[in-house]
Amino acid sequence: MTRVIAIANQKGGTGKTTTAINLAAGLARHDPAQRVLLVDVDPQANTTAVFLGVPFAAGPRQPGAPTVYEVILGEMQAADVIHAVTLPTNGDGAPITLDILPSHLDLASAELELVNAFERERQLHQALVPVLDRYRFVVIDCPPSLGLLTVNALMAATEVLIPVDPGLFPIIGLNLLQRTINMVRRANPRLQVLGVLPTLLDRTALARDTQQELADAFGGRLLPAIPRRVAIGEAHAAGQDIFAYDAGSDGAQAYEELIREIVNRG
Ligand SMILES: Nc1ncnc2c1ncn2[C@@H]1O[C@H](COP(=O)(O)OP(=O)(O)OP(=O)(O)O)[C@@H](O)[C@H]1O
Ligand SMILES: [Mg+2]
Repeated sequence: MTRVIAIANQKGGTGKTTTAINLAAGLARHDPAQRVLLVDVDPQANTTAVFLGVPFAAGPRQPGAPTVYEVILGEMQAADVIHAVTLPTNGDGAPITLDILPSHLDLASAELELVNAFERERQLHQALVPVLDRYRFVVIDCPPSLGLLTVNALMAATEVLIPVDPGLFPIIGLNLLQRTINMVRRANPRLQVLGVLPTLLDRTALARDTQQELADAFGGRLLPAIPRRVAIGEAHAAGQDIFAYDAGSDGAQAYEELIREIVNRG
């Protein structure tokens, strides 16, 4: 069975995109035989910019370069829109590929067009069904909102991973997200909460207190934290996953531990 993991939190800047990129690339590196698809449903198209470049993500639309926008609106088949990117490797092992279903700034208007569509919450799920059995993992990067695009991602997902910034009082926002997840589960009962992931963890007293609150509230569903590290932000800015940018860094080690945990929970 394909594990479809939506990375969601309506709060902005909690490390969703960074986690989607490093999780998808890390899973592909973990076992190259198990193929991974990374789906960008955020109109900010940050994930797309990292792997396919800023002009693709935010430049004028190229006629031959459709995106998840056309897929969600049912105008294109997902299979015809997916790009295979080759991840840089340090050794001479077999090349590792990651498949990307890209976004574009225009996706913001798709959300409006979707409002009147039949089964508007299920469009992404329906579009992914024909390609699902090619993949062991599908990772979906969501926008910072609880709008139709995030609901489409949750409807397509079997699991949701929630990155939180422990320095930003995350608990209140989590209640709101949990309500949305509960609502989606009525229509998509397969959806499980994979876990809450503290990202951007630093050594402040506030972060330590929040980490304790999260542990109390989520117990076994609290995932091993990702520390705030310059290399993680730099990798993102350089258009690389952390394993390509600095495989020996403790940021890479933290993401590796997260991946082991996620593979073990499967
Ligand atoms: N562990 C980390 N250490 C240092 N910087 C980080 C870390 N995680 C993310 N960042 C940086 O924090 C910023 C926000 O991260 P990111 O874009 O992943 O968040 P997001 O939740 O996807 O944001 P949005 O809600 O806008 O989509 C980025 O500049 C990113 O490079
Ligand atoms: Mg993002």
